[in-house]
Amino acid sequence: MSENQNTRDNRAEYRQDTVMAHEYDGIKEFDNRLPNWWMWIMWGSMIFALGYWLVFQTLHLRPESQEQFAIAQQKAQEAQLARAAAQGLDNNFLVMMSQTASKVAEGREIFVKHCVACHLDKGQGLVGPNLTDGVWIHGCEPMLMLKTVTDGVPAKGMPAWQNQLGPTRVQAVVSYVMTLKNTNVPGKAPEGQPCQF
Ligand code: HEC
Repeated sequence: MSENQNTRDNRAEYRQDTVMAHEYDGIKEFDNRLPNWWMWIMWGSMIFALGYWLVFQTLHLRPESQEQFAIAQQKAQEAQLARAAAQGLDNNFLVMMSQTASKVAEGREIFVKHCVACHLDKGQGLVGPNLTDGVWIHGCEPMLMLKTVTDGVPAKGMPAWQNQLGPTRVQAVVSYVMTLKNTNVPGKAPEGQPCQF
């Protein structure tokens, strides 16, 4: 390549890359066209972000990963509970139920509908005893609680819930009551015997 040719090529490049008007301490800046690969990445990311935002956050066509995780966790808990149920109804089963969020939530709904009139919203007691302390009349062992709620204590004003709720809903509400134990909400004075489980 002759020297002449070289100079011309350089000039052609200069024509393509406009030098910007500003200059700092002799440093000039080219106004280059951005490379195609860079533009592809930029537009690609923007389109991807728009799609992601629409699908996951605006239209909720698919659950986000935390939601997917919560759903999977709930299914796993329920499957574990179903396996435990097959072994029979015992304290362990009820403890497991009281650790299964969906069952506790179901129990909470039943409690709000049927129990708050006598035990109040937080279980702090009114006509019925405070369910949030560590002192129990009929025992705090899960199977004893289940018996109290199933059969009631008619002579003392605690209705039997067996017929009205059926066994599975009684189990759910007991699992919720188990979560109230030892939350110590100020309310009705303790009645019964200190109980550890
Ligand atoms: C009409 C009022 C009333 C309603 C409604 C009621 N209870 Fe009771 N509950 C009582 C009374 C009164 C006692 C205390 C019984 C006793 O002194 O032996 C009691 C006792 C209990 C106990 C035993 C507490 C202990 O210290 O051993 C549990 C558990 C309980 N109730 C749960 C429930 C649940 C769950 C519901 C709703 C499904 C419910 N109760 C609805 C009045 C009620």
